[in-house]
Amino acid sequence: YKREQNDVLKAYEWLSKLYHHLLRHTKEGKEGYNYLLSRGFTDDIIDKFQLGFSPGSKDFIAEFLEKKGFHKQLMVKAGILSVNEQDVVTDRFRSRVIFPIRNHLGKCIAFGGRTITNQEPKYLNSPETDLFQKGKLLYNFDLARSAIRKEQKAVLFEGYMDVISAYKAGVHNGVATLGTSITESQAKLLRRYVDTVVICYDADKAGVQAAYKAAKLLKSVNCTVKVATMPNNLDPDEYIGQYGADRFKQDVLDASDTYMTFLMKFLAKDYNLHLEGDRIQYVERILDEIALMERPIEREYYLKELSNQFDLSLDTLSLEVRNRLKKTV
Ligand code: CTP
Ligand code: MN
Ligand code: MN
Ligand code: MN
Ligand code: MN
Repeated sequence: YKREQNDVLKAYEWLSKLYHHLLRHTKEGKEGYNYLLSRGFTDDIIDKFQLGFSPGSKDFIAEFLEKKGFHKQLMVKAGILSVNEQDVVTDRFRSRVIFPIRNHLGKCIAFGGRTITNQEPKYLNSPETDLFQKGKLLYNFDLARSAIRKEQKAVLFEGYMDVISAYKAGVHNGVATLGTSITESQAKLLRRYVDTVVICYDADKAGVQAAYKAAKLLKSVNCTVKVATMPNNLDPDEYIGQYGADRFKQDVLDASDTYMTFLMKFLAKDYNLHLEGDRIQYVERILDEIALMERPIEREYYLKELSNQFDLSLDTLSLEVRNRLKKTV
């Protein structure tokens, strides 16, 4: 078993090198290379992240691995190769730009493959295996680790492109959940390294909803949570493309909302604050959240905000919070 796992790791290493070589130095990889250039990537970035290209052939990779002496059945079991309806072993990724997914030790354990011709799915990922469990891993954690330590802060993105664009913009402490749902295991992993996590998910509806869930989960493992917001449904990669690195850092990351401010804005969308009934429900909802805050100074700060915004006395609001605290002990 140990031996099999070693072989799988070796196959991933060979393959990521092959995909990268094909992209950088061959005519088979040219369309992948051009695609990445069209998205603003440079040779340095392509090399840094070892991006590659899988040709359109149905068994180029299968043959390469066979020549290297890897067992086809093992490669299928590991999700590196596929089996078609005729039971023939074939390449899994075809005509896709390849993003190697590395574990925290920097070993390639999976691939994400993006279509360059609008095929579905947009991203095809390696299946989950013993080695690759998506919910336990953060993309780019190996490269970002030292910057995360140094800055005592991590930036959490949705995807490959966001992490890489941010890196290009000088933000080196970025990691991604590879999708919008963060797991408790990923949250705890981050918490072991940092206090502060800046959530920088896409500004579309799904991204904002996911940011809310991520904020709650990260808060529950005692992170200091900040949430970055962007205009016009943009994602970080698109924002950087349109507004540049400096504005991304200043107007998005540095200007990110605190946990409570984000929550107040986010929850406000569920209410019509012009209506008296809604206003009271909203205040009650925010008070629930404030009662969950651990630091009295934070509680008081946001109670004052509420008090000002809704013209309610601080005494009444404090009493409400005390009542809630009594119920939870
Ligand atoms: N994702 C995935 N499978 C999909 C769609 C998305 O695994 N079919 C993951 C990828 O890791 C992707 C992330 O979710 O990077 C965020 O998805 P999305 O915002 O749709 O993609 P982008 O990262 O913005 O990719 P691009 O800019 O290339 O469209
Ligand atoms: Mn290279
Ligand atoms: Mn998205
Ligand atoms: Mn996106
Ligand atoms: Mn994008």
